[in-house]
Amino acid sequence: MHKKLVVGNWKMYGSRSANALLLAGLKEAGPWSAEVVVCVPFPYIAETALALTGQSIAFGAQDCSAHEAGAFTGEVSSMMLADLGCRYVIVGHSERRAHHHESDQLVAEKARAALAHGVTPIVCVGETLAEREAGQTETVVKRQLAAVIHLLTHCIGEIVLAYEPVWAIGTGLTASPEQAQAVHKVLRMQLQAATKKADAMKILYGGSVKPDNAAQLFAQPDIDGGLIGGAALKAADFSAICRAAM
Ligand code: 13P
Repeated sequence: MHKKLVVGNWKMYGSRSANALLLAGLKEAGPWSAEVVVCVPFPYIAETALALTGQSIAFGAQDCSAHEAGAFTGEVSSMMLADLGCRYVIVGHSERRAHHHESDQLVAEKARAALAHGVTPIVCVGETLAEREAGQTETVVKRQLAAVIHLLTHCIGEIVLAYEPVWAIGTGLTASPEQAQAVHKVLRMQLQAATKKADAMKILYGGSVKPDNAAQLFAQPDIDGGLIGGAALKAADFSAICRAAM
């Protein structure tokens, strides 16, 4: 059994005082046998790094530029994230794909930029409700992953993959453990065709993971942990999910 990975995606929530409370709560509740990561808004990375010094909780960001450096106002490079000590960066979250029109190709380029600086990209894939109802779930997630495999080639084994059905994000609707496992299996097989490392790679599930459904999801053979939104903002809930990932 590999160690599970539990990642909190704080999205655009938090403040210096709220973050301090949340991180203090997590420090008190840990350590866990799972690997635990918080992906925080850019302005809070440095302070999070300080707060987590000497802790087993890692931290990361929620996006990065596909570019190395240059005249890209408002963008943050993966070199900067590495400089701050980020171990992970989420790329291709459905909220960025939807609101910022990020294409499969751009997401793949961001993953490549992250890897170039030793930051592990957590690449998100997932179908919308309309796509699921039209029976396109497999086609959509495979297309999204294929773009990343195509660009990263032999480095694909270095990423973390996250399956986040869009209809389950922030809605309280969770994919059932069986629904999630079915998609994870498809993704695992696609990775197996691309790399010998596929079985050791982590495929996370995200979408309304809560303390009361986490254990069942994490018990599925191809679910290697979770990408947690809302429940990652409450120390008690997030630590309960981390405990469920034993
Ligand atoms: P929720 O856990 O709030 O559904 O969000 C999931 C998510 O988008 C994590 O990236």
